[in-house]
Amino acid sequence: MSEPRLVIGLISALHQEQSGLIEHMNAAQTTTCGMRNYVKGRLWDTDFICVLSRLGKVAAAATAATLIERFNVTHVIFTGVAGGIDSNVKVGDIVVADSLIQHDMNASPLFPRFEVPLSGLSRYPTDKFLTDQLVKAAEEFFQHDFKNQIDTADRSLFKLEAPRVHSGLIASGDEFIHSEKRRTDLKQALPNLLAVEMEGAAVAQVCFEFGVPFSVIRTISDAANENSPTDFVQFIERVAARYAFSTVKRLCGGN
Ligand code: ADE
Repeated sequence: MSEPRLVIGLISALHQEQSGLIEHMNAAQTTTCGMRNYVKGRLWDTDFICVLSRLGKVAAAATAATLIERFNVTHVIFTGVAGGIDSNVKVGDIVVADSLIQHDMNASPLFPRFEVPLSGLSRYPTDKFLTDQLVKAAEEFFQHDFKNQIDTADRSLFKLEAPRVHSGLIASGDEFIHSEKRRTDLKQALPNLLAVEMEGAAVAQVCFEFGVPFSVIRTISDAANENSPTDFVQFIERVAARYAFSTVKRLCGGN
């Protein structure tokens, strides 16, 4: 019997969160659909379709639906950066989502706050196997590749001393969180929340509705506070791509 076909749809919002991977692809073939480029090829013996969604939930949902319906991916992974919400989650740490929620979904009093109307759901769990594999890949990255991949200047600039891997709740919304007040309000409303970004929960909802296993891996670029606009830009320019490249490589069994 032949092995089941595995085709991973890999989404990032911005090119800085994925660059290096497309360049590394074998036999890459690009198709444009809905103003996005879907690049199909092989990475470390695994079939991938890489795409940049741009920012926000609508952009991410449209991209995920296209990957599933038009490109027939069997799994979806979102890789990118996030703002840290929990005080134990520091810049340079990696958060792999075990579930995702839309922090700006609020149809109350018709439906409970955060619940996606008529779905009965507010939290979308990620695929356990994929999530465990991503946690393992992130741990291997920190153990074996981190010091070679991130140079001393960047490690000292971002104070990346002993970065850690976390797994837990990520929230998404169409808002760049950049104040201590917004950070603490979100933490109060969602006490288990680890990190915040702008796409993951939209991808989660689409994948859930199509029955496609998915997960989300995010590197913390900023602390979702007043320094975030500067920290975010510096982080994505200098180090985000190297985190993505090495964790995807480790996920595929490369070393
Ligand atoms: N992605 C990275 N940092 C973020 C933040 N502070 N808010 C929303 N999305 C982010």
